[in-house]
Order: sequence, then structure tokens, then C-alpha cells
Amino acid sequence: MRAEVYSFTELRFTSYAMTILGIETSCDETAVAIVDDGHRVRCDLIATQFDVHAKYGGVVPELASRAHLEKLDALVEEALNQAGCTPDEIDAIAVTHAPGLIGSLLIGVTAAKTLAWGWGKPLIGIDHVHAHATSAAMDLDQDPWPAVALVASGGHTSLYHVRDYDDILLLGRTVDDAAGEAFDKVANILGLGYPGGSIVDRQARKGHAGAIKFPRSMLGPGSLDFSFSGLKTAVLYYVHGSGKTSGGLERLTPDDINDICASFSAAVADVLVEKTVAAAARTGAGTVVVGGGVAANSVLRARLASRCEAENLRLLLPATEYCTDNAAMIAALGAQLLAHGSADDLHLTASASATSGRIAG
Ligand code: KG4
Ligand code: ZN
Repeated sequence: MRAEVYSFTELRFTSYAMTILGIETSCDETAVAIVDDGHRVRCDLIATQFDVHAKYGGVVPELASRAHLEKLDALVEEALNQAGCTPDEIDAIAVTHAPGLIGSLLIGVTAAKTLAWGWGKPLIGIDHVHAHATSAAMDLDQDPWPAVALVASGGHTSLYHVRDYDDILLLGRTVDDAAGEAFDKVANILGLGYPGGSIVDRQARKGHAGAIKFPRSMLGPGSLDFSFSGLKTAVLYYVHGSGKTSGGLERLTPDDINDICASFSAAVADVLVEKTVAAAARTGAGTVVVGGGVAANSVLRARLASRCEAENLRLLLPATEYCTDNAAMIAALGAQLLAHGSADDLHLTASASATSGRIAG
């Protein structure tokens, strides 16, 4: 028998006074959160898959979706318990439906649809990158828009002009590696392990950022796109010798490794900061918001803070636990979009690529 398909597109939530269950399964973290009023996090749970993928040095998509399947139901139950909340008190379910690993997204979307149907609640599909772009606003009483948003994560490096929660224009994105991907690859080159970003960050604090002059690829005047693959190759050749891909690591001392981490981090941060400030100047936005795993990076946070102060820009950074993947940002954006009149129905599909992605002219 075909399930009844309902539509909530006529619903208009006039206030943010609602409780949203958020589900995030786009990559290698199974996450569930319950958020009140678009910003009060009642409960925020993450089941990390670190152990599943560590021995492969990166995320194995098939294993990721299986792990989501095993953990998600119990995590939803645990979230309701921790928040002291019954399904009746949940006003809507928000779920990441794009972009990400398709098998992983499908687990979250199917679970969310099942709950929405079973509990008779509205459903809203969330673009994961848009949730990172707006995550820094989660703690605020007042919306910070318009703003320029930098999202730097393992899968994405993008600049947006956020005019409202439902009006997000893409200004530029990476043409090759994402910033977080570059951190992970450099950690791998240096034999530091997985996931690499936080380890490189830790080592960088003990090194000298000026020790090695790594390239800063700006992709030509006026470009708001990014490229990090040349920088990653520069680190590879610095370690092993020009044109070589192995044999050099043994010669490096722990201090050398720390200097490479510090110099590489400074190069990534300089490019991200420069382009973000240029995007603010181009759009006239007086506020910069940042999100994604790389937003937890200490070098980037420090350089953004001093540059934004010098340029008289207001800088909003999420707490570090909301930089990396989490379901609180999914629930929070869900509340805002519902309040703006957006909702989905049981036809909601998962998509590996980004949703609207309008390019600003
Ligand atoms: O946002 P996220 O959790 O997942 C994606 O949507 O991709 O970002 C994960 C990425 C990984 O590449 C990880 O190495 C990087 O963020 N990352 C960091 C730091 N913490 C996580 N990169 C640099 N410094 C950090 N402290
Ligand atoms: Zn993410």
C-alpha cells in the first residue's frame, strides 16, 4: 500500500517558538539534536565513526552508510530521553538531504520521512553547506543578515552572500581540493593520522608560521574561487624533494614537522581571509560569518579576527563544537526555514550535490 503523501507547504509558522528534531548523516558522523526556538540547543548527540574509517585513512562510503543505519534509531531515542521530550512535543523534523555521500544521506532522509509520517509532523530538507553557513547565527537573538559566509570543511570551501536564511547566493568555491581536504592530505603526507585537520592545528601551535614560504593561490584578480591542490603538492615536494612523492619523511625532525604544519596553516588561512574580506567589500556586507570544520582552526580564527577588526567587519564564529558536523545546526536552520514558510513533504529526496547553488552575477 502506498503511504499517504502530505504537504506542509501551506503551513506558515509565524514565530520561532517551536521544537525541532534535527538529523545529520551526510558523511561520517551520525548526529541528532533537539533545538528550541531556532537557537536553544536542548540536546546535541554525535556518534562518530572515527574507529570505522581510521584504518583506511579516510571515509569509506559503504561503511559510513552501514554505521548510520546501525546507530540512528538509538540516537533519536537517546535524544528524546536526554531532552526529556516526547514525540508529541516535536513540532517538525529537519534532515540533511544534500550534499554528501548519497548512501549516507539516504539513511537520514528515510529515517526522517518515516518519523514525520509516523508522528504526523512537518518535514524539512536542509542543505548541509547552508547549515554551516548560518551556524554562527545560532546563538544570536537577532539575525545578522546580510553577511558574507565562509564555509570551509572537508568537502566544501565556499563563499556566500547570505541575505536571509532562504536567500543564500554562492559567490565562489574551490575548483579542486576543499580546505579541510588539504589539511587531511597534508596530515597524511606528514604521517600524522586521520582526521588530520585538528592534528595539524595542534602541531602548528608549536611551529613557526614564517619558516617556509608556501604558495598562496589567488586564481587571478577578483576571483572568489579557491584552489588548494597546488599548496598540497608544494608540501609534498617540500617533504620529499622536488618531483618526488616518497622517501623524505624520515629526514624531518619533530620541529620540522611543526614548522611545516604552521607554515601550511598560515598559507591556507591567508587565502581564506583574503577572499572573505574581498567578498565583504564586493557585497557591501558589514558582517562575516564562518562555518565548517576548518572554522575550528586556531590560525584561521586568529587571522580572521585581526583582519576583520582592521577592516571594521563584525566577525561571528561558531563555538568549535558547532564548526564540525552536528545536527544542532540542521535543526536551527530548519526552524528558520519553517518560520520563512518553507517545508517539504514525503517526496523529499537525497542529493549528492548541492541544492540551489545560485551563482551571484
Ligand atoms: O564540517 P566538517 O565536520 O565535515 C564536512 O562537512 O566536510 O569538516 C571536517 C573537516 C576535515 O577535513 C577536518 O580535517 C577539518 O574539517 N578540521 C580542521 C580542524 N578541525 C576539523 N581543519 C583544520 N583545523 C582544525 N582545527
Ligand atoms: Zn560539514
